[in-house]
Amino acid sequence: MAAGNILVIGAAGQIGVELVLQLRSQFGASRVIASDVRMPSVEEVIQGGPFENLNILNDQDLLRVVEKHNIDTVYHLAAMLSATAEKQPEKAWDLNMTSLFYVLDLAKHGKIKRIFWPSSIAVFGPTTPRHNTPQLTICEPSTVYGISKLAGEQWCSYYHEKFGVDVRSIRYPGLISHKSAPGGGTTDYAVEIFHEALKHGEYACFLQADAELPMMFMEDAIRATIEITDIEASRVPIRTSYNLAGMSFTPEQIANEVRKHIPEFRMTYEPDFRQQIAASWPASIDDSAAREHWGWQANYDLKRTSEVMLQEIRKQIQSSRVTF
Ligand code: SER
Repeated sequence: MAAGNILVIGAAGQIGVELVLQLRSQFGASRVIASDVRMPSVEEVIQGGPFENLNILNDQDLLRVVEKHNIDTVYHLAAMLSATAEKQPEKAWDLNMTSLFYVLDLAKHGKIKRIFWPSSIAVFGPTTPRHNTPQLTICEPSTVYGISKLAGEQWCSYYHEKFGVDVRSIRYPGLISHKSAPGGGTTDYAVEIFHEALKHGEYACFLQADAELPMMFMEDAIRATIEITDIEASRVPIRTSYNLAGMSFTPEQIANEVRKHIPEFRMTYEPDFRQQIAASWPASIDDSAAREHWGWQANYDLKRTSEVMLQEIRKQIQSSRVTF
């Protein structure tokens, strides 16, 4: 990790909250500046270190924050996810792309040294091989979100080649977390199910029973994010984005896992427009490049993820500090 400070953009989001907490514990609270246009629902993010109210679509304000805090590494997580983006395509394109250019240009002009920017399994589409999807393959996304991530990956690689910008990226699968809520994704059902199972004993899933998707527990995702950003530049030869795998399961399989803990749990299926998005994405991911280049290894499978999710959300309900 370089000598300057770290800025997390999108610190109120599903990934941002946990990334800020982990970075602060690893590198020191005062070195990690959390920022977002909204206030994080998790108090620790605001109380535990510096916080800046930042609209990423204001490049002057971004520059102000970067200079004020002597930032050299930026984790740029602000984005509109797949389901929400389908409802506001132009706004999604503007947010996802304009903000990326602002951050890439900061590095191009020597204001920061390193960038982490997330991509997604959404870069793939219906023509992509569905099982064990390779690193290099057909990418014809059918969502606005996927188009923005695919274009973003290419711009990252371009800035790296032409201007020497040190940008690193991961294609996240669906992320499962208990500290912060997901927002507007197609994979959000895999978080909602645990809350609903504990609170109501039933859940109406918006995907079909057999909609298999790649997923990952947040602890693994955060570790991957910090690992890839932290290692020597020479170990990151891919400057578009790395495939990353944790586990793969269907709604029916996760429901069965929940039932091992809550036998009376009932799952019904009411597929909506998100089913079409899910059907266009891979079922499983080949992440051998990430394993070979920077030693990636996931720790959580469906069983372990479900145990932790149920245990942690149960605690939240009991202490009624529920943020959902
Ligand atoms: N979890 C994201 C979504 O569903 C995929 O990157 O939009």
